[in-house]
Amino acid sequence: MRVALGVCGGIAAYKAAELVRRLQQERLEVQVVMTRSAQQFITPLTFAALSGRKVITEMFAEPGAAPANIDSAIEHIAVAQSIDLLVIAPATANTLARLAQGIADDFLSTLYLATKVPVVIAPAMNVNMWEHPATQENLEKLRARGVHVVEPDEGYLACGMTGAGRLAGVESIAKKVCELLGIRHDFEGETVLVTAGPTCEDVDPVRFLTNRSSGKMGYALADAAARRGARVILVSGPVQIEPPAGVELVPVRTTEEMRRAVLDHAAACTVIIKAAAVADYRPAAAQPKKMKRSGGRATIELEATPDILAELGRAKGNRILVGFAAETDRVADNAREKLRAKGADIIVANDVTCEGAGFDAETNIVTIFTRDGHTVDVPQMSKFDVANRILDEILRLRS
Ligand code: CTP
Repeated sequence: MRVALGVCGGIAAYKAAELVRRLQQERLEVQVVMTRSAQQFITPLTFAALSGRKVITEMFAEPGAAPANIDSAIEHIAVAQSIDLLVIAPATANTLARLAQGIADDFLSTLYLATKVPVVIAPAMNVNMWEHPATQENLEKLRARGVHVVEPDEGYLACGMTGAGRLAGVESIAKKVCELLGIRHDFEGETVLVTAGPTCEDVDPVRFLTNRSSGKMGYALADAAARRGARVILVSGPVQIEPPAGVELVPVRTTEEMRRAVLDHAAACTVIIKAAAVADYRPAAAQPKKMKRSGGRATIELEATPDILAELGRAKGNRILVGFAAETDRVADNAREKLRAKGADIIVANDVTCEGAGFDAETNIVTIFTRDGHTVDVPQMSKFDVANRILDEILRLRS
């Protein structure tokens, strides 16, 4: 998600730098927009370095710079359409007045008019300016329009006076932003291990058996759990996708390597989600040398791999154990049977023959079966949204 951070000209402008960092911790992309007077207090370079993006300081190109083109002239519209929230911190009395009046005389005030996303304003100013009826009336107007105001704190002010007017703490502003964007932290304190992707079983040094798992469902689960505040360990078979930010990646290849990695970390985990498509069979003896074509038929003898989920189910303790069931028929019966046989708390079943579900799809359609007899049908949605539904069920079983 993307947030525009408006910075106005006040002593507290330097605190906006910390806010950029705090919002980034929530995996938000931050586009900083500075008013002219903000640049008297802190340079755009600071924000550009922190946000990794060009800071918007002008409505039009500077005189002498490259001639304004249509792209720069309508940038406020492009930004307005690409963000999920606008937060202005610190907001000065002057900016509050301009917003209340609908004056669009710089990029920030124009962006405010052009966007329909939630707006959060964190004012900071001298106590008399704050208490002035003009400021309070402007705030009332903005509140009546649905703007969210994070009230300033009381205390010693840079002007030497004491009273209300200090910019609210970065944590309070970030909390409001998260609340409005639906960012939850309900997995804080949990350590979630997710397995993802396929496993590979060698036939000889150049050939192996594997399956069509893309890892997308497991990676979405790891991403969603990390965003909700969990420590996440992602044990992944070979996949073509990037691991989500902030997760600890443990790359593995074979079922045995996955088993070892899972058992090594299991004791530290409160939740284990086995989204990996683990090979059920492997060659009984991998050939040390490349098998030569000999004509006629060839046979590879297979042996069963260890069932990692069932092994975990036998020593589950207080952990919540989630398994997946990729089925092509009798989905509900097979899923309920797996719930029992593997000692899992949840089985997430999907019919991989359905369009919009299963291997390599961007979306999934699943049914969640829980040990307390609950069944939740999750219609077609992105794998990230499915992941959040699964996490919701885990928390429900916890409570
Ligand atoms: N699983 C596992 N270890 C294996 C095989 C599967 O941990 N050796 C896990 C998968 O990660 C998944 C669940 O078990 O969470 C179900 O896997 P699936 O292959 O659908 O079920 P199986 O038990 O192998 O049964 P079947 O192939 O008969 O459907």
